[in-house]
Amino acid sequence: MCGIFGIITNQDINIGSIALEAIRKLEYRGYDSCGMVSIENTDLQILKDSGKIDEIHEKLHFDTLNGSIALAHTRWATHGPPTKDNSHPHTDCTGEIAVVHNGIIENFIELKKELISKGHSFKSETDTEIVPHLIEEKLKEGYDFKEAVVEALKKCEGAYALSVCYAKEPNSIIVARKESPLIVGMEEGKTSYCASDIPALLQYTRNCFILEDNEMAILKAGEIEFFDIENSLKKITKQPKHINWDIDAAEKNGYEHFMLKEIFEEPDALRKTLKTSDEEIELFARKLIKADHIYITAAGTSFYASLAGKYIITRFLGKYIQEIECSEFQNKLTGALEKNTVIIAISQSGETVDTIEAIRWAKEVQKDITILAITNIIGSSITRYSDHSIITRAGPEIGVAATKTYVTQVLSLALIALKIAGLRKKLAPVELDKYYDALKSIPEIIEIFLKNNLESIKEIVQNLEKNANYFFLARGISIATAKEGGLKLKEVACRFIEGYSAAHAKHGPISLVREGFPIIFIAPPDKSYERLVGNVMEFKARGGHIISLVVDNDETISEMSDITIRIPQPSTKYYQYFSPITFIPALQLLAYYAALDHNLDPDKPLNLAKTVTVH
Ligand code: AGP
Repeated sequence: MCGIFGIITNQDINIGSIALEAIRKLEYRGYDSCGMVSIENTDLQILKDSGKIDEIHEKLHFDTLNGSIALAHTRWATHGPPTKDNSHPHTDCTGEIAVVHNGIIENFIELKKELISKGHSFKSETDTEIVPHLIEEKLKEGYDFKEAVVEALKKCEGAYALSVCYAKEPNSIIVARKESPLIVGMEEGKTSYCASDIPALLQYTRNCFILEDNEMAILKAGEIEFFDIENSLKKITKQPKHINWDIDAAEKNGYEHFMLKEIFEEPDALRKTLKTSDEEIELFARKLIKADHIYITAAGTSFYASLAGKYIITRFLGKYIQEIECSEFQNKLTGALEKNTVIIAISQSGETVDTIEAIRWAKEVQKDITILAITNIIGSSITRYSDHSIITRAGPEIGVAATKTYVTQVLSLALIALKIAGLRKKLAPVELDKYYDALKSIPEIIEIFLKNNLESIKEIVQNLEKNANYFFLARGISIATAKEGGLKLKEVACRFIEGYSAAHAKHGPISLVREGFPIIFIAPPDKSYERLVGNVMEFKARGGHIISLVVDNDETISEMSDITIRIPQPSTKYYQYFSPITFIPALQLLAYYAALDHNLDPDKPLNLAKTVTVH
């Protein structure tokens, strides 16, 4: 939540435009306000306001900021509504120190009272504003800039990725990290950068240094030094991570929205993820085979990927896997985490604070535990707190609604499941090969679907009642698809939906059904199909408007439906576990076009941010 960026250079370049481009790339992290600061002739120049980046730029012209140093911020409000005063950068009383921050300073109320009693005055309701005032206080006490930042941070509890500049020292930016993501990179001898995420730096460098908790860096033009805050500011050496994402992958490339582009990138993301190293998959498989207890944890879309994945893995592993939403992990397992436990943690960003907290807590209370992470972001927090990680190959996902990362997460779990099937000899080699062949054919199935169905899905959306609520119903593994497909519609089109078990819906939700109530049934030809037929009839008998997702040669449920969306997937048993991947693009598109139909921006859903770094 919130994106920060910083640049310091000795080149003749327009830092305002560069910072603007960077926060546009970070806008998915928060988009209710934004701002920038530069230092010109030892004065801070600040431009900031509430609203979307482009609207603010039109008013304030960020490209008028000159000089050799700038910090920028795009905000997702936590403390204080999105107003100009609450927008970052925040400054101290002298107006010489400016800070941009991602995270939450939890003890800010107490610190603010202390600072007010010392004569400081505040302009915003934010937690962040205490930081420049604390630095000001430490400078007054005689510390130099670097020491003052460290002394200020010692007083702060909570999470931060922050970037600080000081008008009296215009040759450096100080950045520090605790629990919120922060990367730095440079063009040697020329320009240095910091940012919350890779897409903002990709066009300048592919070698990024990922700051760890309690690390600080001093950025000078084309030069970076790293320090360990907890070890008397000892200088440290860090190795850069090479990022091989395409620059184009972080651009819209002619698509109207990132969400649509990223849905279209699914076949490619899946093909790349199919190439995950066999050793990594086998390592995960063996850990699961040896475990006595297995939990899978995540949030939102990643949690629904867990639901699908646990279903597939259980079939071949023969052990129960308990899924627990990360925010409830500690509550549910306090006193119950036993030895020889494996936890699979899934997070596309690798930074979701509740997921990180769940695994960190688990490691603290039970030493005999293995954490296996699946994430899309190399070097993200989840990889640091896990014993082993698989990095999905979705490339940068900018749309706030997760789409291509979801399919790659489910695919990774399916690969682990098939590996387990092979290791445990649960399938004859010929059979196993057929499952693998089915898995490998998925990118093409999605490609064909996307090629032939855009218009029909647009039309379905146009004919749906604008203000309707929806049920997304399914049985078995497809409950994950129902929940994830429903979440997409909820997120981007602001429709109320209930993603539910079709069987269980009889125990309450069915009472809402009236003539014309739209119900989307996910109906692949698996073991649940026949019983689902009965459920479709029950809802149809009560006037439900039935929209079904079926395979090409479906006859029964499609006959009973008012609208049918057909997925070009063979109806053999070898696809039975993979429908969460092949069926989801249809629902993602439905949500996308529903958002457009409601004049909503699908890339920037109301009140959401892509990475949730607050509890
Ligand atoms: C997905 O569309 C949502 N934006 C959200 O539910 C998301 O999946 C959730 O916050 C988890 O994020 P993560 O995968 O980065 O941990």
